[in-house]
Amino acid sequence: MSNREFTVANEYHYNRSSPIRWIVSHALRYKPFVASFMLASIITNTFYATVPILTGAAFTAVLQGAAGRSQLLQIALLILGVVLVGGVVDLSARLSTEILGKRLATDARDELYVNLLGKSQTFHNRQRVGDIMACAANDMNRLSDMIVPGVDSIFDSFTSLFITITFIGLLDPQLLLAPLLYTLVFVIALWDYSRKLQPVSDNMREQFGKMNSVLTEAVSGIEVVKSTAQESQEQGKFEKNAKRYRDFFIQNGEIQARYLPPLLLVVALTGAFLHGLYLVSHNQLSVGNLVAYMGLMNIIRFPTFISIWSFNLVQLGIAGAGRILTILKEETELDENEGGYSGEMHGDIVFENVTFSYGDTPVLKNISFHAEPGQTVAIVGQTGAGKSTLTRLVNRIYDVDEGRILIDGVDVRSWSMDALRSQVSTIEQDIFLFSRSITDNIAYGLGQKADATAIEQAAHDAQAHDFILNFKDGYKTVIGERGVTLSGGQRQRIAIARALLTDPRILILDDSTSAIDSATEDEIQKAIRRLLEGRTTLLITHRLSQIRWADKILVLRKGMLIDQGTHAELLERCELYRRIFIHYDAKITGQLQEVPLRSASGHLLDD
Ligand SMILES: Nc1ncnc2c1ncn2[C@@H]1O[C@H](COP(=O)(O)OP(=O)(O)OP(=O)(O)O)[C@@H](O)[C@H]1O
Ligand SMILES: [Mg+2]
Repeated sequence: MSNREFTVANEYHYNRSSPIRWIVSHALRYKPFVASFMLASIITNTFYATVPILTGAAFTAVLQGAAGRSQLLQIALLILGVVLVGGVVDLSARLSTEILGKRLATDARDELYVNLLGKSQTFHNRQRVGDIMACAANDMNRLSDMIVPGVDSIFDSFTSLFITITFIGLLDPQLLLAPLLYTLVFVIALWDYSRKLQPVSDNMREQFGKMNSVLTEAVSGIEVVKSTAQESQEQGKFEKNAKRYRDFFIQNGEIQARYLPPLLLVVALTGAFLHGLYLVSHNQLSVGNLVAYMGLMNIIRFPTFISIWSFNLVQLGIAGAGRILTILKEETELDENEGGYSGEMHGDIVFENVTFSYGDTPVLKNISFHAEPGQTVAIVGQTGAGKSTLTRLVNRIYDVDEGRILIDGVDVRSWSMDALRSQVSTIEQDIFLFSRSITDNIAYGLGQKADATAIEQAAHDAQAHDFILNFKDGYKTVIGERGVTLSGGQRQRIAIARALLTDPRILILDDSTSAIDSATEDEIQKAIRRLLEGRTTLLITHRLSQIRWADKILVLRKGMLIDQGTHAELLERCELYRRIFIHYDAKITGQLQEVPLRSASGHLLDD
């Protein structure tokens, strides 16, 4: 991925060319753990494989009569020792993979999070939140399950298989017949099994994402669902998706049920026993060795059963990794331009023949205007005219298609994105607050740098201090998810405080949907007046007093700038402006108690 809007220092680079390579490159970050796991696993399995050999030796000793009895105690103690040491080594193998699995999942989570933060707004508009959440939660868990117990037990099983067969070969090469045949068939059956399982587990995963999307959407839009009484429709939709998920789940189960190795194993055990008996009866094998042989064959049982689910886990893990990678690798359109221009901003904005479209829909056509430092430029136009879109081009939420935007004479694309965005503040139509404390929300733009007095001062200037103190916990009050415990007006004042604190040179105020009672209106007017002082402001509002006294007004119609000028000029010559103005006027007559406004250039703005 070349373009991104956010990077962290000392980032570790993983191989993203395929899901498996990606997982391996993650695991290789912890080479010592990988090595200690492998080594410990090999040692443990060697120890465990000597137990049947010792048991066989014990049988031989018993069969020798009184002479052999004395060895029995020795052998018993040896078995105890082997099992104890094997157990301790086993423990360190398990510990290594646990650590590896958890660290890998943590790293992958970090990687995804940073990556999502670096994606452009266009990407986030396109992507369903449910899909991302499913990916961040479930696919990440699958990744960790894939290491432990998935890969962990597969590696362990295969080491055990290999070592056990080697021990059988050392016992008597003829005995290799049954286990080798079995292993061959086992590998073929396993390959067939995972080949069938793969597409089903992919489907299962995808369906889970869909099911979650529906759920997330219904929950975040619960107000709409309830107010339109659409519960049963939503339920139906969810049920349909849940059923489909269940079907894939059953299909997955059916494939798992047809896992052949356990059946093959019984055949192999019987064959091995008959073969052993045959060799014993022809005096080519001692009874003690037959016992050891059957004991070793029994260890082979372990890989057979463990693989049923561990292969499934690995399948799911790889499918999950594939989905995570798809998100990670998705191209993003904008680049943060780290080395770009990052001077102190004065706030001179020039639009030069700017044209912009969302995908194929043209939204802005050939817009040119100039806002001098400190000026307030109001943008008016009917809904959907492109007012909000125009402001989003200034801080590069989107990039222009044609033409250019200059800030202080520098193309916004040549600015370092960090420098640009930290000096341009936006108060959006729909104010989003995090479910954190009020302090954290106000200080958001400054991160950790804000101190308590500055936050309080900003809240004061934003007329928010009083209502904040009315909450039981004051500034420490935690705001409910999406700021539900605050009213629209309160939210707006928090946003104003946030903007005041960051003290941007350019301010974008997109305020066109607010409908607030006049007492609150008054407060907000005061706050906004304080906010506009000394900043270049792009103002979208229905508040007549503010439009009237702006230094310049842009009139947009269907994405075209049909006129610009002062209130008086436009009233005189622009038909559309007159219509819009009268319309706004009618809406707020009798509701608005106008508050004197001070323009950026300092003179009092009321008549
Ligand atoms: N993220 C988006 N993706 C695609 N099209 C969009 C997007 N946002 C807005 N549009 C479209 O662009 C056009 C202009 O939208 P914009 O939000 O700029 O209008 P507006 O003038 O701010 O309207 P309002 O006064 O209602 O806020 C509309 O036709 C809208 O459908
Ligand atoms: Mg808008």
